[in-house]
Amino acid sequence: MTARSLAIVAPWVVRPGGTNGDRATEVQRSLVEMVRLRPRKTDVFSSTARRLTSAVGALVARLYRWLYSELCGTHPNLRPWHFQWLSGSTLYTSLRERLPTLRGRVLDVGCGDKPYEPWMSGATSYVGIDVVAGPRVDAVIEPRKPWPVADEDFDVVLCTQVLEHVADGDRLLMEATRVLKPGGTLLVTVPFAYGEHARPHDYWRFSLQGAREAIGPRFRVVETIPQGGIGSTLGAMLLAWLELTFTRSGSRVLLLTALLPAWMGVVLVVNGVGRLLDAVDRTGAFYGNVMLLATKPHGDRSSFTP
Ligand SMILES: C[S@@+](CC[C@H](N)C(=O)[O-])C[C@H]1O[C@@H](n2cnc3c(N)ncnc32)[C@H](O)[C@@H]1O
Repeated sequence: MTARSLAIVAPWVVRPGGTNGDRATEVQRSLVEMVRLRPRKTDVFSSTARRLTSAVGALVARLYRWLYSELCGTHPNLRPWHFQWLSGSTLYTSLRERLPTLRGRVLDVGCGDKPYEPWMSGATSYVGIDVVAGPRVDAVIEPRKPWPVADEDFDVVLCTQVLEHVADGDRLLMEATRVLKPGGTLLVTVPFAYGEHARPHDYWRFSLQGAREAIGPRFRVVETIPQGGIGSTLGAMLLAWLELTFTRSGSRVLLLTALLPAWMGVVLVVNGVGRLLDAVDRTGAFYGNVMLLATKPHGDRSSFTP
């Protein structure tokens, strides 16, 4: 019943202060309540339609993600027509060089799916911790709380693409210092130029100097290596923006699925041009990621000055 039809069958309700006294007031209240609470047919229809649309949207998005990973690969095995290939492949090149040289017990902090475990051929054991549970996570930790790990238990702490998501990064680095053996290695990678992701937990970006500054107080920084140049930085941003734009709704994902071969072609061209531009960029000022290697100093770390 709408307010207009209510005015016809019970005019005193819509004209409060009618002549029937308290009784009228009571009836008024219950009728108004009924009108307010009873879902209208159109409401029921539109909420069912909304639920159906969002279920179909979620299904389409899942199908798209499955198809995309089948055709374009998954992290860390992306094919050159994957929209994250430019940022991924430059990072993987650095990691593939350094990871096999690290030996002993490895702790992967913020491990996710432990994508780099197969590349750590020198690891005698490999433990992964993360704030989010997952099939490959050995222990779930809480932000800002000590890790369930003994002091000086590990030879290597690996922390790839995590620090930008940690509000209190120094707390994480303090824990990394605690669990590393003296002389042990910390390997960190962080983005310098990339879009906001994993919202709302995306807090920081690090330049080479910024990464050194963040790690320096607790470790001896051995090496900082930038990944990529102007081409991969611009290309990765452009493709990530396009992907985000075209996956924001079920109908756009449907469109993108229909245009998938064309989308893969565009990505391949942008990736190729990005690589060429990287090859001619000599500025050293534009890079997507930073990799940093550091060691835990021997002796009393409170008196350590980097
Ligand atoms: C971008 S993913 C990187 C995953 C993996 N390290 C990689 O390189 O593919 C960021 C990961 O950091 C984890 N993370 C976020 N905050 C964390 C924290 N305070 N301590 C440990 N892990 C955290 C997230 O749950 C997520 O798995």
